[in-house]
Amino acid sequence: MDYFAYKDNKLFCEEVDLKSICDKVGTPAYVYSKKTLERHANAYLKSFSSANNLICFSVKSLSNLSVLNVLKKIGCGFDIVSGGELHRVLTIKADPNKIIFSGVGKSEEEIEYGIRNRILSFNIESGSELKRIESVANKLNINASISIRFNPEVDSGGHDYITTGRKGDKFGISSLKEVMQIAEYANKSKSINLVGLACHIGSQILNLESYKTAAEKTVELADKINALGVELKFLDMGGGLGVPYNGETPPNPADLVRAIEDVMGNRRENIVLEPGRTISANAGTLLTSVEYIKDNFLIVDSAMNDLLRPSLYGAEHDVWNINNSQKTSTNNWNIVGPICESSDFIRKNITLSAKEGDVLAVKTAGAYGFVMSSNYNSRRRCAEVLVDGSEFEVVKRRESYADLLNLEEVPND
Ligand SMILES: Cc1ncc(COP(=O)(O)O)c(C=O)c1O
Repeated sequence: MDYFAYKDNKLFCEEVDLKSICDKVGTPAYVYSKKTLERHANAYLKSFSSANNLICFSVKSLSNLSVLNVLKKIGCGFDIVSGGELHRVLTIKADPNKIIFSGVGKSEEEIEYGIRNRILSFNIESGSELKRIESVANKLNINASISIRFNPEVDSGGHDYITTGRKGDKFGISSLKEVMQIAEYANKSKSINLVGLACHIGSQILNLESYKTAAEKTVELADKINALGVELKFLDMGGGLGVPYNGETPPNPADLVRAIEDVMGNRRENIVLEPGRTISANAGTLLTSVEYIKDNFLIVDSAMNDLLRPSLYGAEHDVWNINNSQKTSTNNWNIVGPICESSDFIRKNITLSAKEGDVLAVKTAGAYGFVMSSNYNSRRRCAEVLVDGSEFEVVKRRESYADLLNLEEVPND
């Protein structure tokens, strides 16, 4: 459920006519709905039966500072995967005790940044990473808290590129023997606090069965680790729940929380979840203008540099005309951008009423949308706008040509 809807044939975000945003900001532009972000985050926060459980929003899905601030204010923590994301959440004064640092390849610099800021946990993915964190902690003379991310070997379905918890995926530690060795080592280390056990089985997951299996494996392993004399503080089940892009019917966040609490609810450890897409996807739409019509092509002013998901995963976003709610045209359009690649498309095979000059709304584009944008073809990254009721604000301005050259040396001759 989101807050993008037609009123009298005009598409609104909350109480703002999207046309008024185009008139002021131009296209392409991402528009986010504050009310939708809050609604989705609250769907998790309010379903938990204990206030000690934690939602760490996955910053990689949508990292605009104003969006992060909305989520911080209603109680979310953050799941980050880089020093840059840590810098973002510290900039909005997120509580370090609600920050989890995930990812397989943390650099020494990133680890130092996290330890100095006393984050809740580094979710470690190898014995070598643990040794590196220990050595940085010793150098700084500050203890580091870690969780072990194991690979539960659950195939959650979905696109090959976003499934992470199967045997052979690069994420987590697959060998349970190795997990136990790492736990023993961490338990004896003077500068490491072993506080959690974590897994994350994929993204755009449409069933709860994989979560239940992963949760059962997690508690089994947690018992073995606790038997070493460790007192794990939390069990982190990652993110990954799917959203409806094009007719899918995923379980909702409350169902996920219930399924996990069924397995873990009566344990001493708190539960942590790291949702990204379910909070940010439906909260965002990409506005783009139709520049030209040729054959069955709608050539628009956004491209794969603005929204990569269709080219990268063959993802299918629904597309609406902001001034025409009818989908009665017999035309079957391919919506394509100006980039010089045949893989540059926004949507193939869609029935839609559209003419040159119309503005289209690419739906469910909040997650893995702007964050994956680039300057390919020396295109300027587009603007981001946050709607709050009847008001809107540009929360990231469109890049200028000067921005494009900002970090380069201009040759003298
Ligand atoms: C460790 C981790 N946590 C959370 C997420 C968020 O996943 P999603 O956006 O599908 O909820 C990801 C994304 O792949 C991830 O790798």
